[in-house]
Amino acid sequence: MPTDGSTLANRTLRVAFDAPGAGPGPWEVKVLATDGKLALLTLPYSGGKVAVLNAGTRVTLTPPPAAGRGPDPPAGHVATVLERRLKPVPSVIVRLPAGFSEALGAVDRAARVVVVASGKGGVGKSVVAVNLAVALARQRQEVVLVDGDLGTANVDVLLGIQPEATLAHVVAGERDLMDVVRGTPYGFRVVPGGSGLPEVANLTEWQFGRLLAGFSALEAHADVIIMDTGAGIGRNVTNFFLAADDVMVVTTPEPPALVDAYALIKTAARGGRRHGIKLVLNRVSGPDEARAAAARVGEAARRFLGLDLPLAGWITEDPAVGHSVRRQTPVVWGYPQAAASRAFARLAVEVAGDGQRPPAAAGKSFVERLRSLFRAG
Ligand SMILES: Nc1ncnc2c1ncn2[C@@H]1O[C@H](COP(=O)(O)OP(=O)(O)O)[C@@H](O)[C@H]1O
Ligand SMILES: [Mg+2]
Repeated sequence: MPTDGSTLANRTLRVAFDAPGAGPGPWEVKVLATDGKLALLTLPYSGGKVAVLNAGTRVTLTPPPAAGRGPDPPAGHVATVLERRLKPVPSVIVRLPAGFSEALGAVDRAARVVVVASGKGGVGKSVVAVNLAVALARQRQEVVLVDGDLGTANVDVLLGIQPEATLAHVVAGERDLMDVVRGTPYGFRVVPGGSGLPEVANLTEWQFGRLLAGFSALEAHADVIIMDTGAGIGRNVTNFFLAADDVMVVTTPEPPALVDAYALIKTAARGGRRHGIKLVLNRVSGPDEARAAAARVGEAARRFLGLDLPLAGWITEDPAVGHSVRRQTPVVWGYPQAAASRAFARLAVEVAGDGQRPPAAAGKSFVERLRSLFRAG
């Protein structure tokens, strides 16, 4: 059986089953290979004993409990034995339930996650997130834009779409995240946000688990995930912020916005975030104002936080942005020649060109980092 290259191969799973004469276990199996919905497993073993499974037996597969995982056991998934084999080693072929490998975090590729955040509201986060998505999609990147502003989601309004299902349905357990992802006319997909959702920190373990399982599946189906967030330093925002590969802190050049941007960056630095934070200066008169404002925050970050804070890009104050918001079409799409649109295209080149994961983030996926952050808090 060919392997699909997923990291499910070689993993050891706990297995529970009903077979006459088999002791209580705990039993384990090793995944020898996977092929789409099928997996080749060793026969269950426990100590020195091996159990024999017949075709038709239903088995419950669970990743083994890892140290420091928290009190709740990982969920089990029911799979059915299709046939038993004796060669080359005694093994069984099972049909895996839908979403199994995603739920175990076994993804073939993990998208880069770019979180768009700000200290102060109304500085242009959603406009930046939406137009960055359009501009990256134009560079043939597979982009998913997630409206993660759980309080006042409005990406759907900026895109002129009417979602029939949102993140709120996912959290409520009515839909899977992969069913809520939908296309847009602009070459990327979107996960619409639901307004009035509880803060992520206030979600039950079950709701949060559903959200993470959804993101885990999403990570395997995109090059870049752009996440718009709510303003400020609520725990929901900072944990997304800490788990991201890159964080774009959007600010205008006005002092109150700069002060709030610095406060957000300080919270992130205290939370252990040392790399991959960048500034985006929005609504500036030109490069001089952008650089001067970025230098003020950057200087404070260097002196007081020991943090390098590069300027990822700047967008001019441009009436085309206001027009595009009223027309409910991204400015990059509706007014490609506008100064703001050219600035977004430059920002996208900067974001795409800088595709290396920062050292702090290497190895772990966004979902794994997010899970440990919420567990720790
Ligand atoms: N570069 C810009 N030039 C002109 N107006 C802008 C620009 N960026 C944002 N705006 C205006 O600011 C408003 C708020 O932006 P939005 O992205 O919704 O803010 P946030 O998500 O940070 O709360 C937009 O509706 C738009 O009218
Ligand atoms: Mg917004």
